[in-house]
Amino acid sequence: MKKKLLALLMGTSLVLAACGGGDDEAKENTGDKETASVDAEQIYNEKGCVACHGGDLTGGVGPDLTAAGGHLSADEIKDVIVNGRGSMAAQNVSDEEANALADWLAAKK
Ligand code: HEC
Repeated sequence: MKKKLLALLMGTSLVLAACGGGDDEAKENTGDKETASVDAEQIYNEKGCVACHGGDLTGGVGPDLTAAGGHLSADEIKDVIVNGRGSMAAQNVSDEEANALADWLAAKK
């Protein structure tokens, strides 16, 4: 029984490590997804990115963003958000929000 619990805990920390927060150890399991003052996922939903890129980032009108970080750097993603590209218009987000979104998407590869 004890072993099972241990395995579960180890599995959980592996998942956390894979998410790449970097400072996960310091904050243990506090339960919150993002400790940054701006929550990129919330911005994504509130600013309407979700309408074109889908609730699960797999796309729709816009392309799939689940691996956006695989071919775009955070700077390039920010550029798309702030200046638009092709049929995506420039998005109405603050600099802070654009940075949060760019970092969040750049981590998806
Ligand atoms: C009106 C629909 C629409 C909205 C709203 C929208 N996008 Fe897009 N997005 C697109 C389309 C279409 C493209 C492809 C542009 C092109 O053809 O170059 C795109 C491209 C992108 C790309 C580049 C993807 C790649 O793989 O090259 C990123 C990153 C992106 N959008 C992020 C966002 C974010 C973040 C938001 C919200 C702030 C957002 N988009 C809002 C339609 C949209």
